[in-house]
Amino acid sequence: MDLDQTFIQAPEHRADSNSIPNQPEEIPVIDLSRLNDPEDIQNVISEIGDACETWGFFQVINHGVPCDARKRVEETVKIFFDLPMEEKIKVKRDEVNPAGYHDGEHTKNVRDWKEVFDIYFKDPMVMPSSTDPEDEGLRVVYNKWPQFPSDFREACQEYAGHAEKLAFRLLELISLSLGLPKERFHDYFKEQMSFFRINRYPPCPRPDLALGVGHHKDADVISLLAQDEVGGLQISRRSDGVWFPIRPVPNALVINIGNCMEVWTNDKYWSAEHRVVVNSTRERYSIPFFLLPSHDVEVKPLEELLSPENPPRYKGYKYGKFYVSRNRSDFKKLEIQNIQIDDFKVVT
Ligand code: OGA
Ligand code: NI
Repeated sequence: MDLDQTFIQAPEHRADSNSIPNQPEEIPVIDLSRLNDPEDIQNVISEIGDACETWGFFQVINHGVPCDARKRVEETVKIFFDLPMEEKIKVKRDEVNPAGYHDGEHTKNVRDWKEVFDIYFKDPMVMPSSTDPEDEGLRVVYNKWPQFPSDFREACQEYAGHAEKLAFRLLELISLSLGLPKERFHDYFKEQMSFFRINRYPPCPRPDLALGVGHHKDADVISLLAQDEVGGLQISRRSDGVWFPIRPVPNALVINIGNCMEVWTNDKYWSAEHRVVVNSTRERYSIPFFLLPSHDVEVKPLEELLSPENPPRYKGYKYGKFYVSRNRSDFKKLEIQNIQIDDFKVVT
Protein backbone atom coordinates (compact mmCIF):
# COMPACT_ATOMS: atom_id res chain seq x y z
CA MET A 1 0.00 0.00 0.00
CA ASP A 2 1.14 3.52 -0.75
CA LEU A 3 1.94 5.90 2.01
CA ASP A 4 1.24 9.62 1.73
CA GLN A 5 4.58 11.24 1.07
CA THR A 6 4.25 13.68 4.00
CA PHE A 7 4.94 10.71 6.31
CA ILE A 8 8.09 9.49 4.62
CA GLN A 9 11.26 9.83 6.68
CA ALA A 10 14.65 10.51 5.09
CA PRO A 11 16.59 7.21 4.76
CA GLU A 12 18.95 8.04 7.64
CA HIS A 13 16.01 8.49 10.03
CA ARG A 14 14.04 5.34 9.22
CA ALA A 15 13.41 2.51 11.68
CA ASP A 16 16.17 0.30 10.31
CA SER A 17 18.87 2.96 10.66
CA ASN A 18 21.60 2.47 13.23
CA SER A 19 19.58 0.35 15.68
CA ILE A 20 20.40 -2.77 17.64
CA PRO A 21 17.27 -4.97 17.70
CA ASN A 22 18.34 -7.33 20.50
CA GLN A 23 20.41 -5.13 22.65
CA PRO A 24 22.55 -6.60 25.39
CA GLU A 25 22.47 -3.41 27.47
CA GLU A 26 19.52 -2.33 29.62
CA ILE A 27 18.29 1.13 30.41
CA PRO A 28 18.01 1.17 34.24
CA VAL A 29 14.76 0.19 35.97
CA ILE A 30 14.69 1.74 39.45
CA ASP A 31 12.40 0.53 42.24
CA LEU A 32 11.23 3.62 44.15
CA SER A 33 9.93 1.58 47.09
CA ARG A 34 13.59 1.39 48.09
CA LEU A 35 13.20 5.01 49.25
CA ASN A 36 11.38 3.61 52.29
CA ASP A 37 14.63 2.13 53.50
CA PRO A 38 16.76 4.98 54.94
CA GLU A 39 19.91 3.01 54.22
CA ASP A 40 19.08 2.69 50.55
CA ILE A 41 17.99 6.29 49.78
CA GLN A 42 21.45 7.49 48.84
CA ASN A 43 21.92 4.54 46.46
CA VAL A 44 18.65 5.32 44.69
CA ILE A 45 19.67 8.97 44.32
CA SER A 46 23.01 8.08 42.79
CA GLU A 47 21.45 5.49 40.47
CA ILE A 48 19.08 8.20 39.22
CA GLY A 49 21.99 10.60 38.76
CA ASP A 50 23.99 8.01 36.80
CA ALA A 51 21.01 7.22 34.56
CA CYS A 52 20.43 10.94 33.85
CA GLU A 53 24.05 11.31 32.87
CA THR A 54 24.59 8.14 30.87
CA TRP A 55 21.24 7.66 29.13
CA GLY A 56 18.96 10.58 29.95
CA PHE A 57 16.32 7.85 30.43
CA PHE A 58 15.32 5.35 33.11
CA GLN A 59 12.19 3.54 34.18
CA VAL A 60 10.62 3.54 37.65
CA ILE A 61 8.47 0.89 39.33
CA ASN A 62 6.56 1.11 42.64
CA HIS A 63 6.36 4.82 41.91
CA GLY A 64 3.12 5.62 43.72
CA VAL A 65 0.88 6.38 40.72
CA PRO A 66 -2.02 3.97 41.38
CA CYS A 67 -2.56 1.24 38.75
CA ASP A 68 -6.30 1.88 38.92
CA ALA A 69 -5.98 5.52 37.90
CA ARG A 70 -3.78 4.54 35.00
CA LYS A 71 -6.08 1.75 33.88
CA ARG A 72 -9.07 4.02 34.02
CA VAL A 73 -7.49 6.70 31.86
CA GLU A 74 -6.23 4.08 29.37
CA GLU A 75 -9.71 2.61 28.96
CA THR A 76 -11.45 5.97 28.71
CA VAL A 77 -9.18 7.47 26.08
CA LYS A 78 -9.53 4.36 23.86
CA ILE A 79 -13.27 4.98 23.77
CA PHE A 80 -12.63 8.54 22.65
CA PHE A 81 -10.11 7.65 19.92
CA ASP A 82 -12.44 4.98 18.54
CA LEU A 83 -15.13 7.62 17.88
CA PRO A 84 -15.73 8.76 14.29
CA MET A 85 -13.55 11.62 13.10
CA GLU A 86 -16.45 14.10 13.06
CA GLU A 87 -16.79 13.65 16.82
CA LYS A 88 -13.07 13.95 17.50
CA ILE A 89 -12.63 17.16 15.53
CA LYS A 90 -15.24 18.87 17.71
CA VAL A 91 -12.40 19.25 20.22
CA LYS A 92 -9.66 19.90 17.72
CA ARG A 93 -6.55 21.90 18.49
CA ASP A 94 -6.23 25.27 16.77
CA GLU A 95 -3.37 27.57 16.02
CA VAL A 96 -3.97 29.75 19.08
CA ASN A 97 -4.75 27.03 21.61
CA PRO A 98 -2.82 23.76 21.27
CA ALA A 99 -5.06 21.82 23.69
CA GLY A 100 -7.34 19.08 22.37
CA TYR A 101 -7.35 16.55 19.55
CA HIS A 102 -4.93 16.59 16.65
CA ASP A 103 -3.91 14.15 13.94
CA GLY A 104 -1.41 16.07 11.88
CA GLU A 105 1.56 16.69 14.12
CA HIS A 106 4.95 17.22 12.48
CA THR A 107 8.30 16.54 14.10
CA LYS A 108 11.09 18.30 12.20
CA ASN A 109 8.75 18.87 9.28
CA VAL A 110 7.85 15.22 8.65
CA ARG A 111 4.38 14.10 9.60
CA ASP A 112 4.03 11.66 12.53
CA TRP A 113 1.97 8.47 12.22
CA LYS A 114 -0.25 9.17 15.23
CA GLU A 115 -3.22 10.96 16.73
CA VAL A 116 -2.88 12.99 19.92
CA PHE A 117 -4.96 14.66 22.60
CA ASP A 118 -3.30 17.37 24.72
CA ILE A 119 -4.46 18.49 28.17
CA TYR A 120 -2.98 21.31 30.27
CA PHE A 121 -2.27 20.45 33.85
CA LYS A 122 -3.36 23.95 34.93
CA ASP A 123 -6.68 24.98 33.49
CA PRO A 124 -6.61 27.72 32.39
CA MET A 125 -2.96 28.02 31.48
CA VAL A 126 -1.04 31.27 30.91
CA MET A 127 1.27 31.49 27.91
CA PRO A 128 2.83 34.25 25.78
CA SER A 129 0.48 35.48 23.07
CA SER A 130 3.17 35.66 20.39
CA THR A 131 6.62 34.40 19.50
CA ASP A 132 7.97 37.97 19.29
CA PRO A 133 10.59 38.39 22.08
CA GLU A 134 9.66 42.08 22.50
CA ASP A 135 5.97 41.37 23.00
CA GLU A 136 5.14 40.81 26.68
CA GLY A 137 1.50 40.00 26.01
CA LEU A 138 0.01 36.91 27.62
CA ARG A 139 -2.87 34.67 26.68
CA VAL A 140 -5.07 32.51 28.87
CA VAL A 141 -5.97 29.16 27.30
CA TYR A 142 -8.45 26.52 28.41
CA ASN A 143 -8.65 22.77 27.97
CA LYS A 144 -11.12 21.27 25.52
CA TRP A 145 -13.11 18.34 26.81
CA PRO A 146 -15.12 15.88 24.72
CA GLN A 147 -18.72 15.28 25.79
CA PHE A 148 -18.25 11.58 25.31
CA PRO A 149 -17.07 9.45 27.04
CA SER A 150 -18.56 11.31 29.98
CA ASP A 151 -15.81 10.49 32.48
CA PHE A 152 -12.96 11.49 30.13
CA ARG A 153 -12.25 14.69 32.04
CA GLU A 154 -12.37 13.16 35.49
CA ALA A 155 -10.21 10.17 34.52
CA CYS A 156 -7.60 12.43 32.92
CA GLN A 157 -7.50 14.89 35.80
CA GLU A 158 -7.18 12.14 38.37
CA TYR A 159 -4.28 10.54 36.53
CA ALA A 160 -2.55 13.89 35.90
CA GLY A 161 -2.73 14.74 39.61
CA HIS A 162 -0.81 11.59 40.48
CA ALA A 163 1.67 12.07 37.65
CA GLU A 164 2.42 15.63 38.74
CA LYS A 165 3.05 14.52 42.31
CA LEU A 166 5.54 11.93 41.10
CA ALA A 167 7.18 14.49 38.79
CA PHE A 168 8.00 16.72 41.78
CA ARG A 169 9.26 13.76 43.79
CA LEU A 170 11.60 12.88 40.95
CA LEU A 171 12.65 16.49 40.58
CA GLU A 172 13.68 16.50 44.25
CA LEU A 173 15.69 13.31 43.81
CA ILE A 174 17.37 14.74 40.72
CA SER A 175 18.17 17.91 42.62
CA LEU A 176 19.76 15.87 45.44
CA SER A 177 21.71 13.84 42.90
CA LEU A 178 23.31 17.10 41.73
CA GLY A 179 24.30 18.00 45.30
CA LEU A 180 21.65 20.76 45.38
CA PRO A 181 18.93 21.36 47.98
CA LYS A 182 15.87 19.19 47.48
CA GLU A 183 13.61 22.11 46.55
CA ARG A 184 16.10 23.97 44.37
CA PHE A 185 13.82 23.96 41.32
CA HIS A 186 10.45 24.54 42.96
CA ASP A 187 10.19 28.29 42.33
CA TYR A 188 10.27 27.73 38.59
CA PHE A 189 6.84 26.10 38.60
CA LYS A 190 4.54 28.75 40.11
CA GLU A 191 2.63 28.99 36.84
CA GLN A 192 3.76 25.73 35.37
CA MET A 193 2.91 25.09 31.73
CA SER A 194 2.92 21.31 32.23
CA PHE A 195 0.63 19.27 30.07
CA PHE A 196 -0.09 15.69 29.37
CA ARG A 197 -0.74 13.99 26.10
CA ILE A 198 -2.42 10.88 24.88
CA ASN A 199 -0.70 9.36 21.86
CA ARG A 200 -2.40 6.76 19.70
CA TYR A 201 -0.27 5.10 17.03
CA PRO A 202 -2.51 3.21 14.59
CA PRO A 203 -1.17 0.19 12.69
CA CYS A 204 0.90 1.52 9.79
CA PRO A 205 1.12 -0.07 6.31
CA ARG A 206 4.76 1.03 5.88
CA PRO A 207 6.56 0.98 9.24
CA ASP A 208 9.80 0.86 7.27
CA LEU A 209 9.18 4.38 5.90
CA ALA A 210 7.16 6.24 8.55
CA LEU A 211 7.67 6.83 12.28
CA GLY A 212 5.11 7.30 15.06
CA VAL A 213 7.19 10.24 16.25
CA GLY A 214 10.32 11.33 14.45
CA HIS A 215 13.59 11.74 16.34
CA HIS A 216 13.39 14.63 18.83
CA LYS A 217 14.31 15.80 22.31
CA ASP A 218 11.57 16.75 24.71
CA ALA A 219 11.46 20.51 25.30
CA ASP A 220 10.43 20.18 28.97
CA VAL A 221 12.14 19.58 32.34
CA ILE A 222 11.36 15.89 32.72
CA SER A 223 8.77 13.60 31.07
CA LEU A 224 6.96 10.66 32.69
CA LEU A 225 5.55 8.27 30.13
CA ALA A 226 3.11 5.41 30.55
CA GLN A 227 3.41 3.06 27.60
CA ASP A 228 1.33 -0.03 26.88
CA GLU A 229 2.76 -3.50 26.20
CA VAL A 230 3.24 -3.06 22.43
CA GLY A 231 6.63 -1.32 22.44
CA GLY A 232 8.20 0.97 19.83
CA LEU A 233 9.93 3.72 21.81
CA GLN A 234 13.65 3.94 21.06
CA ILE A 235 16.34 6.20 22.45
CA SER A 236 19.65 7.26 21.03
CA ARG A 237 22.62 6.30 23.21
CA ARG A 238 24.64 9.28 24.40
CA SER A 239 28.02 7.75 23.68
CA ASP A 240 27.48 6.80 20.02
CA GLY A 241 23.96 7.62 18.83
CA VAL A 242 22.92 3.96 18.39
CA TRP A 243 19.17 3.41 18.89
CA PHE A 244 18.01 1.26 21.82
CA PRO A 245 14.46 0.10 22.52
CA ILE A 246 12.77 0.96 25.83
CA ARG A 247 11.33 -2.38 26.83
CA PRO A 248 7.74 -2.17 28.11
CA VAL A 249 7.70 -3.11 31.81
CA PRO A 250 4.20 -3.65 33.28
CA ASN A 251 3.04 -0.61 35.30
CA ALA A 252 6.41 1.09 35.02
CA LEU A 253 6.80 4.72 33.98
CA VAL A 254 9.53 5.82 31.59
CA ILE A 255 11.31 8.96 32.82
CA ASN A 256 13.44 11.16 30.62
CA ILE A 257 15.41 14.37 30.90
CA GLY A 258 14.18 17.29 28.79
CA ASN A 259 15.92 20.34 27.39
CA CYS A 260 15.46 22.55 30.49
CA MET A 261 17.21 20.10 32.81
CA GLU A 262 19.96 19.68 30.25
CA VAL A 263 20.49 23.46 30.21
CA TRP A 264 20.17 23.88 34.01
CA THR A 265 22.89 21.23 34.51
CA ASN A 266 25.04 22.68 31.71
CA ASP A 267 24.94 19.35 29.83
CA LYS A 268 25.83 17.14 32.80
CA TYR A 269 22.44 15.51 32.43
CA TRP A 270 21.48 14.43 28.96
CA SER A 271 18.31 15.04 27.04
CA ALA A 272 18.34 12.03 24.72
CA GLU A 273 16.91 12.00 21.25
CA HIS A 274 14.12 9.48 20.98
CA ARG A 275 11.58 8.27 18.43
CA VAL A 276 8.72 5.84 18.05
CA VAL A 277 8.73 3.05 15.49
CA VAL A 278 5.34 1.72 14.43
CA ASN A 279 4.18 -1.68 13.23
CA SER A 280 1.67 -2.98 10.71
CA THR A 281 -0.60 -4.99 13.03
CA ARG A 282 -1.13 -3.44 16.44
CA GLU A 283 -2.17 -0.01 17.60
CA ARG A 284 -0.18 1.42 20.48
CA TYR A 285 -1.01 3.96 23.20
CA SER A 286 1.29 6.06 25.31
CA ILE A 287 0.53 8.76 27.86
CA PRO A 288 3.36 11.20 28.60
CA PHE A 289 3.20 13.88 31.32
CA PHE A 290 5.49 16.77 30.42
CA LEU A 291 6.72 18.86 33.35
CA LEU A 292 7.20 22.44 32.12
CA PRO A 293 8.25 25.57 34.05
CA SER A 294 6.33 28.88 34.14
CA HIS A 295 6.31 30.97 30.97
CA ASP A 296 8.41 33.75 32.57
CA VAL A 297 11.28 31.53 33.75
CA GLU A 298 14.60 32.36 32.19
CA VAL A 299 16.22 28.96 31.56
CA LYS A 300 20.00 29.08 31.90
CA PRO A 301 22.77 26.98 33.48
CA LEU A 302 22.60 27.06 37.31
CA GLU A 303 25.31 29.26 38.86
CA GLU A 304 26.06 26.66 41.55
CA LEU A 305 27.09 24.13 38.93
CA LEU A 306 29.40 26.46 37.01
CA SER A 307 33.12 27.07 37.53
CA PRO A 308 36.05 28.43 35.53
CA GLU A 309 36.54 24.89 34.15
CA ASN A 310 32.84 24.55 33.45
CA PRO A 311 31.67 27.83 31.86
CA PRO A 312 28.05 28.19 30.71
CA ARG A 313 27.32 26.37 27.48
CA TYR A 314 23.98 28.07 26.86
CA LYS A 315 22.61 31.55 26.69
CA GLY A 316 19.46 32.02 28.72
CA TYR A 317 16.04 31.88 27.09
CA LYS A 318 12.53 32.70 28.23
CA TYR A 319 10.69 29.43 28.51
CA GLY A 320 7.30 30.63 27.30
CA LYS A 321 8.70 32.09 24.09
CA PHE A 322 10.55 28.89 23.33
CA TYR A 323 7.37 26.91 23.91
CA VAL A 324 5.19 28.95 21.59
CA SER A 325 7.81 28.91 18.84
CA ARG A 326 8.08 25.15 19.05
CA ASN A 327 4.36 24.71 19.05
CA ARG A 328 3.81 26.73 15.94
CA SER A 329 5.99 24.37 13.96
CA ASP A 330 4.46 21.22 15.47
CA PHE A 331 1.22 22.44 14.05
CA LYS A 332 2.15 22.61 10.42
CA LYS A 333 4.95 21.97 8.04
CA LEU A 334 7.38 24.87 7.84
CA GLU A 335 10.03 25.45 5.23
CA ILE A 336 12.78 25.57 7.83
CA GLN A 337 13.60 23.45 10.87
CA ASN A 338 11.84 24.71 13.99
CA ILE A 339 13.62 26.20 16.98
CA GLN A 340 15.90 23.73 18.82
CA ILE A 341 17.78 23.94 22.08
CA ASP A 342 21.08 24.04 20.21
CA ASP A 343 20.09 27.48 18.93
CA PHE A 344 20.90 28.68 22.47
CA LYS A 345 24.33 27.03 22.65
CA VAL A 346 27.22 29.37 23.32
CA VAL A 347 29.54 29.25 20.35
CA THR A 348 33.11 28.61 21.49
C1 OGA B 1 6.53 12.22 22.93
C2 OGA B 1 7.20 10.91 22.84
C3 OGA B 1 7.09 8.52 23.03
C4 OGA B 1 6.09 7.40 23.02
O1 OGA B 1 5.28 12.24 22.88
O2 OGA B 1 7.25 13.24 23.05
O3 OGA B 1 8.40 10.89 22.73
O4 OGA B 1 6.48 6.29 23.33
N1 OGA B 1 6.47 9.79 22.93
O5 OGA B 1 4.94 7.64 22.67
NI1 NI C 1 9.26 12.76 23.29
